[in-house]
Amino acid sequence: MKKSIFILLICSVFLQKSTFSQNNTTSDVHKMQWFSDAKLGIFIHWGIYAVNPTSESWAFHNKHISHVDYMKQIKGFTAKNYKPDYWASLIKASGARYAVITSKHHDGVALWDTKMNDLSIPKLAPAKRDVLTPFVKALRDRNIKVGLYYSLIDWSYPDYPGFLKDSSRYDAAEDPIRWGKFLKFCHGQIKELLSLYNPDLMWFDGDWEHSAGEWRADYIRSLILKSNPNTIINGRLQGYGDYDTPEQNFPITRPALPYWELCMTTNDSWGYAADEDTNFKTPYEIISIFADAISLGGNLLLDIGPKEDGTIPAAQEYILQELGNWTNKHSEAIFGTIGGMSLGHFYGPSTLSKDSTTLYLFIPAHANGDITIKGLNSEIKNVSVVGSNTNLDWKVVGKISWSKVPGLVYIHVPENVNDKYMTVLKVELKSPLSLYVGKGGL
Ligand code: GLC
Repeated sequence: MKKSIFILLICSVFLQKSTFSQNNTTSDVHKMQWFSDAKLGIFIHWGIYAVNPTSESWAFHNKHISHVDYMKQIKGFTAKNYKPDYWASLIKASGARYAVITSKHHDGVALWDTKMNDLSIPKLAPAKRDVLTPFVKALRDRNIKVGLYYSLIDWSYPDYPGFLKDSSRYDAAEDPIRWGKFLKFCHGQIKELLSLYNPDLMWFDGDWEHSAGEWRADYIRSLILKSNPNTIINGRLQGYGDYDTPEQNFPITRPALPYWELCMTTNDSWGYAADEDTNFKTPYEIISIFADAISLGGNLLLDIGPKEDGTIPAAQEYILQELGNWTNKHSEAIFGTIGGMSLGHFYGPSTLSKDSTTLYLFIPAHANGDITIKGLNSEIKNVSVVGSNTNLDWKVVGKISWSKVPGLVYIHVPENVNDKYMTVLKVELKSPLSLYVGKGGL
């Protein structure tokens, strides 16, 4: 790794330390490496909400259905066509390097055989078995990092204060003994997950209902790090996580933290929604969002919602396959790269090799003509199309011999080199990337 990039990384980690997690150490640079190289993760929302077209947990919380009727769905969760090896191979084929699965959503139903209460698939659903363990194994067999989503909120647990959107059972601050009972349960489940699965990533959700002090977020973080100092924690632990977690809404500028991940649905629902939600994003839309995320130095965590029987909906299967074809063809431009140039230099996403001598340009629409790079000080050695090895012509325009401002680079992209979804150009430089960022002029 180039010294300057390394120093930049170290500095940004110190910046993160002061603005985000109070407990990070410099070893985080090492610990976060796989995550920042991974770029693509697949999120899985699987729970009893897949039985009827209800939203995950929110359906009863927002009173679209009673809690009693919502919970009846557990009797319809069969997992009868569940093939964890097939799930994991589909994830692998998509190009994703990690997966995050809902071990328990806000409705409190655990996918594993928790000993902390009886509300679990193995105990109450016709599936009658722990469906989490075989999936974790299938991921590990394929060298895919394991992330466990765990909802801190548990609206079904009798000692959890929140329940319906406008009613609370009690106030945690006024009844610390009862809140303490809940915490014992919640921390106990986290300990179970750590000791059973040794996750590479703990992905918390629902931290917004209580403060760091109430959750005892520092204790949760220490439990995790004591169990495995390399486990990464997402950004929903009231300031005690390792990276930022924007949801659905795409950042326009680079988030302040060095590590971040956009979690996003393939349609408009996290869990399976049958025919109620067929608003699927196209492969092109997903690929272009993904390219934007990595261009800004982040990851995409793309969600799928399997049916109660374990079948992955065809529309989501298709998206993962198409995404996989594209990521495989363009893998050198994606994995192991770092975020690219700001839009002032190129009007599209870009990434950079770690030694900063190769730029990858993601062309937003089918090109048939010239694309431009502005402010490129470094000289170009070669330009080619990723995945096809076709070399392209380029030309430097408007370079004034006595000025420090570089000329404009025009690269000619003929129609016949376009990828079905998004074409990527490889621009090899004679020296590490150097950019002019001034105002032009003399
Ligand atoms: C939200 C929702 C939840 C969903 C999650 C995914 O926080 O509460 O339903 O699981 O986002 O990021």
